[in-house]
Amino acid sequence: MNNPMTILGIAGSLRKLSYNRAALRAAQELVPNGAKIEIFDLDGIPVFNQDEEKQVPVKVTELKARVRAADAILFVTPEYNYSIPGVLKNAIDWASRPYGDNAWDDKPVAVMGASVGFAGTARAQYHLRQVFVYLNMHALNKPEVMIANAHERFDENGNLKDEKTKQHIRQLLESLVDGARRQERGASARA
Ligand code: FNR
Repeated sequence: MNNPMTILGIAGSLRKLSYNRAALRAAQELVPNGAKIEIFDLDGIPVFNQDEEKQVPVKVTELKARVRAADAILFVTPEYNYSIPGVLKNAIDWASRPYGDNAWDDKPVAVMGASVGFAGTARAQYHLRQVFVYLNMHALNKPEVMIANAHERFDENGNLKDEKTKQHIRQLLESLVDGARRQERGASARA
């Protein structure tokens, strides 16, 4: 019997009615048996300042602890000006520092995102994937979940109503859990 798996879900928007926060809440309902998604809210993380990286703000200490305790990470990102929103990149940068104390190291990670545009955050997701390389995260390649025209897929209360999108998210989470379990088994076999 496998231990229950904890996925830490982080949305890259602080907006109350954010589609990405709504997509993350939807993912919590779609996660396979034996796994759960806990949400870390980025609200309150200050702007990164390297002068403070050895005595970090409390919220950053909390973020790093939650990342380290998680078996896998799920980023749900908006796309801002064809790239990663500053609020998300800022949090990633904090938790990667100081040099040699990168909390993201070796973590399985999946990414999805929602935008009101037709490309469904594709460009932001590929920028994030580039960042995962430096962080030494193990990115799930497929399925890619790019939620285009988000305003048509959620109701006014932020509930995901599009069945096809639900199915894609379910597949993403199943693949993330499978990949994380494979990585875990590989690590135990090597120990
Ligand atoms: C956007 N938006 C946007 N959409 C997109 O598809 N490609 C883009 O490059 C951008 N750029 C962009 C820049 C900035 C500064 C903002 C505020 C918005 C629109 C974006 O998809 C929309 O606002 C989403 O609703 C943002 O995600 P949340 O907050 O709903 O999760």
